[in-house]
Amino acid sequence: MRAHRYIRERWKKFLDVDIRGMMTVEGVPVDRIVQKYGTPVYVMVESEIRDRFRRFKKTFGEDVKLQYAVKCNSNLAILRMAQEEGFELDCASVGELILGLLADLKPRQLSFTNLYKTDNDLLFAVKMGVQSITADSIEDLYRIGLAAKKLRTQVRTVLRVNPMLQVGNYSTKGNKYGIPIQQIHHAIEVAARTPFVDFRGFHFMGGYIQNVRVLKATARALVKIVRFCQDRHIPIKTLSLGGGFPAAIGDQEAFPIEKMKDFPSYFQRLLERHGVTMPIKLIFEPGKAIVLNAGIGLMQVVSSKQIFGRKRMIIADGSTYNFIPDALVQKDVCYDILPASRMYAPRVHKVTVGGNTCDCWDLITQDIEMPKLAEGDILAAMDVGAYAQVLANNFNTIRRAPVVLVRPDGSVTQIRRRDRFSEMFAPELDVLKMADPSELERYSNLYRININTIWKDQAKGKNGAMTKSPKRGESRRKKAAR
Ligand SMILES: Cc1ncc(COP(=O)(O)O)c(C=O)c1O
Repeated sequence: MRAHRYIRERWKKFLDVDIRGMMTVEGVPVDRIVQKYGTPVYVMVESEIRDRFRRFKKTFGEDVKLQYAVKCNSNLAILRMAQEEGFELDCASVGELILGLLADLKPRQLSFTNLYKTDNDLLFAVKMGVQSITADSIEDLYRIGLAAKKLRTQVRTVLRVNPMLQVGNYSTKGNKYGIPIQQIHHAIEVAARTPFVDFRGFHFMGGYIQNVRVLKATARALVKIVRFCQDRHIPIKTLSLGGGFPAAIGDQEAFPIEKMKDFPSYFQRLLERHGVTMPIKLIFEPGKAIVLNAGIGLMQVVSSKQIFGRKRMIIADGSTYNFIPDALVQKDVCYDILPASRMYAPRVHKVTVGGNTCDCWDLITQDIEMPKLAEGDILAAMDVGAYAQVLANNFNTIRRAPVVLVRPDGSVTQIRRRDRFSEMFAPELDVLKMADPSELERYSNLYRININTIWKDQAKGKNGAMTKSPKRGESRRKKAAR
């Protein structure tokens, strides 16, 4: 069908085209969203997100504990959906733990995994009583124990393992995470005897997994370690194999999660084969497999011009910095960019879509076949539901885009507003004691304020700046008092 010339199979559940040739999402024409929220704007499709959560649940049933990886898209409305769909959360920072609480998950439903944690992060996590903290190294383990000791409590701890795998082209050998398998016996002994550490199990996360063989090989390596613990009467309760489940992007395809239905029984057989009698709970932490394909980024064409030779350049009001940065971070990622306001128009020429920042690398996509597009036409970047929104930044002091959620009944709710200028300036304005929530009018009046005095006051230390030097003799008196 002509209407579907740009629409891939995986979007057909929620994407269509109206008689004007305008893309619709759950029946809502995208120009209506653009009129109300402006561009660039992210559109998240609720039915697709819930469908993914449910497919994971259905595939693994009660055999596997599922924790959504917050880092991938930390929007509170999505975390709330995770909670409603019976997922726990995998959090990478104190900020993500706080978001988990805001989405109304209990501390025992939040696990804390990152290779980097400050002492304050650890104290925060221990105090709130998270499900577990993952130690990335033996040094980390000691610090977790010290934080727990300070608060006189036991902290549930798991060890992150790097099994040093090589499966075809896939390798974990150069990874920065985890305790290399050669050191794991020593780490287990330390974990088992470190006071205040309630050692519970193991964690693995090895990047993007295109092949179930990788997870099977990891499980084989980790079950041997579990057996080592059993032989030493060290009870193990959990084994997390992380996320990294594939999600389709551009021409790339991804295996459906249903292909992993047999994994829990494979794991059980492995335990039996190695004589492990302790019940071990498997954990998965999917991120992008849940949300990637549920996200659409709407932009508008701001200009269309011919450059060098016959090369055609379209400039969009989004960019690889402020809107879909993932394409820049992962070099081989190539988003589909669709002519959302001209879905019946045939492809007539090759264009490069340039982003709106002043960086020459800021090219959203290059040499794609497109219809003739003019200023005001809408472009849709497909499959931008994961990592793009959380990686977007304020380069060029451009405000990050709002996010709307489209429900199956066609209602549209804003789940994040556009950045305010004040939020971008606040960290600098705060030190000048100038930040003010109703500041936009003030900024337009800035030329009336004598900014120079503010800077001068700051230099004199009148604005809370840390430039104040002690009065003569003061530092000597303080030292003596100590
Ligand atoms: C510990 C951990 N779990 C889960 C994930 C989620 O990965 P993905 O979004 O590829 O599923 C990540 C991603 O970096 C991670 O570091």
